[in-house]
Amino acid sequence: MRSILVLNGPNLNMLGIREPGVYGSSTLQDIETRLRAAGERLQAELHFFQSNHEGALLDEIHAAYGRRDGILINPGAFTHTSVALRDGIASVGLPAVEVHLSNVYKREPFRHKSLTAPVCVGQIAGFGAHGYELGLEALLQYITDQQEAQHLTHGGAGHAE
Ligand code: DQA
Repeated sequence: MRSILVLNGPNLNMLGIREPGVYGSSTLQDIETRLRAAGERLQAELHFFQSNHEGALLDEIHAAYGRRDGILINPGAFTHTSVALRDGIASVGLPAVEVHLSNVYKREPFRHKSLTAPVCVGQIAGFGAHGYELGLEALLQYITDQQEAQHLTHGGAGHAE
């Protein structure tokens, strides 16, 4: 069973009300329910946290160190501004996948730059609420692949010591 931190940044608590033409009609609770079902299927235990405060998100990233296997994160607007969140993700060294409901590259130029994506394994954008499930699956597969590669490097099954 993998343990995954699912982080949502500012204004994502307003999903369902907030600009539905851009972000869809799902609430954050709907997304959580769908993701929990996916987590069960993929054998991952999910820990959800949403905050409108950069420091609270950063504290949660730090708390994941040594306790979680990876991070699924939609940093919201902090994607485009937060050196602190970027450094936090890099500090804990956990694999992270960045998710955006909207295709940020089709939108205003200030959304085209992500400060956090370079310290993530990858990014999924533009698939609405489904993007979280895609991100979770990609993150879990990445963790499995990494473990397998490590196992082989350190003389795992089939390799004589
Ligand atoms: C967002 C995209 C960001 O640019 C925006 O500030 C958000 C939501 C998304 O999920 O599409 O708050 O992260």
